[in-house]
Amino acid sequence: MTRKLNKTVLITGCSSGIGRDSALFFQNKGWNVVATMRAPGGEQVLNRLPNVICPLLDVTDVESIQKAIQTALVEFGTVDAVVNNAGYALIGAFETLDAVQIRKQFDTNVFGLMEVCRSILPHFRERNQGILINVASMVGRVPLPLYSVYNASKFAVEGFSESLVYELENFDICVKLIEPGATDTAFFGGSSDRYNGTGVKAYDDYCAQLLPLMDSIGPAGSDSQDIAEVIWKAATDGRHQLRYAAGSDARAFLLARRILPDGLFKRTIKISLTPWALKTVGKLFYRT
Ligand SMILES: NC(=O)c1ccc[n+]([C@@H]2O[C@H](COP(=O)([O-])OP(=O)(O)OC[C@H]3O[C@@H](n4cnc5c(N)ncnc54)[C@H](OP(=O)(O)O)[C@@H]3O)[C@@H](O)[C@H]2O)c1
Repeated sequence: MTRKLNKTVLITGCSSGIGRDSALFFQNKGWNVVATMRAPGGEQVLNRLPNVICPLLDVTDVESIQKAIQTALVEFGTVDAVVNNAGYALIGAFETLDAVQIRKQFDTNVFGLMEVCRSILPHFRERNQGILINVASMVGRVPLPLYSVYNASKFAVEGFSESLVYELENFDICVKLIEPGATDTAFFGGSSDRYNGTGVKAYDDYCAQLLPLMDSIGPAGSDSQDIAEVIWKAATDGRHQLRYAAGSDARAFLLARRILPDGLFKRTIKISLTPWALKTVGKLFYRT
């Protein structure tokens, strides 16, 4: 066991995007980082940094979760914070998505995250401290068209996390939710699942009209380093704040969700997903 004086964070999904930038951010701030990933064999950067290890962790494989936590404890002695970041989006009209695709979405974004929590909680309880940071999304409270199953998975993460607060505060374990808006990562590209698994064609025109526009928002959204900074703040601010909206779009849409009645909110979302809105109001939030 080495280097145990620093605080230690374990992060899931560090091969790219928000997870990777979070690993770099925490390392830069002097933390020990357990930067887990599904395929650490190809990693060339993180595993060469001081105080960083990259064990294999697939959130859908409980054994790999437990092994990664064991490795972290052997290497650093304790784990002070866990960032449940791993996830991807299943995108498309609900009828075009088959049961296997839907289960996989929940296996990763919801049940995988729960298994990571289940595996780390005994360690947190034993020490009467620990911070669980669950990366949800703005869409965990602001549903968007053609994201129904992904939305549902992030709603589940929100409900799960908010409920956990009650039972875990008795052990001084803190639960936090990060709610990023559109962020420029592989999320909008290769890592999403857009396969039409059922072959239903009825929604093709609607998808063709809307998805390219929604995809154009990703690269114009927040930098993943900015989201990493919000995650680091959540881990270090010493507050019992549950939710951290990340990105100006997330802050605006979450506010709209809170104050507008459903009908008006739906109209706001529909209007905001038009080329006109993206070119005008969108400039407030996106690098269009
Ligand atoms: N980008 C956005 O606009 C946005 C907005 C709100 C919330 N989020 C959330 O932010 C989180 C990170 O996404 P990102 O934007 O950084 O996208 P990303 O670059 O695609 O990163 C996703 C990460 O999750 C990993 N992952 C996927 N399935 C996994 C599994 N079964 N076990 C372990 N790791 C797995 C991926 O690993 P592989 O390389 O092995 O696939 C990758 O490292 C996700 O939870 C996402 O829902 C993103």
